[in-house]
Amino acid sequence: TREPLILGIETSCDETGVGIVRGTTLLANAIASSMDEQARYGGIVPEIAARAHLEALTPTLDAALAEAGVALSDVDAVAVTSGPGLAGALMVGVGAAKALAIALGRPLYAVNHLVGHVGVDLLRPADAGGGLLELPTVALLVSGGHTSLLLVRDLLDDVELLGETVDDAAGEAFDKVARLLGLPYPGGPQIDRAAAGGDPAAIAFPRGLTAAKDQAAHRFDFSFSGLKTAVARYVEQCQARGEPVPVADVAASFREAVVDVLTAKALAACRELGVPRLLLGGGVIANARLREVATERAAASGVALRIPPLALCTDNGAMIAAVGAQLVMAGRAPSGWDVGADSTLP
Ligand code: KG4
Ligand code: ZN
Repeated sequence: TREPLILGIETSCDETGVGIVRGTTLLANAIASSMDEQARYGGIVPEIAARAHLEALTPTLDAALAEAGVALSDVDAVAVTSGPGLAGALMVGVGAAKALAIALGRPLYAVNHLVGHVGVDLLRPADAGGGLLELPTVALLVSGGHTSLLLVRDLLDDVELLGETVDDAAGEAFDKVARLLGLPYPGGPQIDRAAAGGDPAAIAFPRGLTAAKDQAAHRFDFSFSGLKTAVARYVEQCQARGEPVPVADVAASFREAVVDVLTAKALAACRELGVPRLLLGGGVIANARLREVATERAAASGVALRIPPLALCTDNGAMIAAVGAQLVMAGRAPSGWDVGADSTLP
């Protein structure tokens, strides 16, 4: 039997993603981003994101169909991110997916955005063999919207949240610290560049939630607001003394603090749970230092590290289609037509 052709729609944040997969084969991954528009405001404005999705969806869908070389009528099922994310942004995708599914007479599958970040690792290019995702795995998902550590035993039925940020997401911390240093949005790539000539040991910034008292129920949670405040205080002290801010050292020391905590907790989870696999996902994976430290520490711990290609790590429609395909192939019932956007989906 032929594997199902699945269309996936992702609009939870500022990327409009439409992906097409056949089973675990990636056929198209079209993306439009309102990042440039958001940059003028120094961050994501939910209303602008929702409007941008509305404008971008049809052209992005057309681009995906052209890339995959399929017709809309060939699609066997439509998958869509139902949450978590920005409510207005999610609603645009869910509404579009429902309309398409009804018009095509095909089933609709609601997909959890975070599960998508994991399921994407099942995909392989059309000319390559073998899906890559092996379970169980610990997954570290880090972006502007989330910082979550998951234990995935079964993609569809057993995904456990080990910990998440109690305040800012890791990418958000990069964006806020960049602003403190006078660097433009999005801050992650800017900090990465500024850190290149800096000394990561120059300033001892705090590592959030790593003290002994935090080592119980919330030992896999993250906190970045104290780190951000420490950077703000450091910058203020420089200015009060009339000294220039050593931007490269601040950027390198800040980046090191974030990378240290993220990788230490992810590998501690692998060790404690006896799971020798770690999967990374989310836009912050673009950080070169994060990939480097994760690679070193995983090797030292005997943990197999999976980093999907960056275009599949950032928010995209293919990851939603990938999970949709798993649901179809497992014979799961489609979502009801009453399914809605759920911005706080666990
Ligand atoms: O996954 P993504 O594209 O969108 C969502 O936030 O959902 O992630 C964007 C985030 C932004 O906060 C951006 O600053 C961060 O990822 N980012 C980085 C780097 N490139 C992007 N953070 C650290 N280092 C980078 N090189
Ligand atoms: Zn995401």
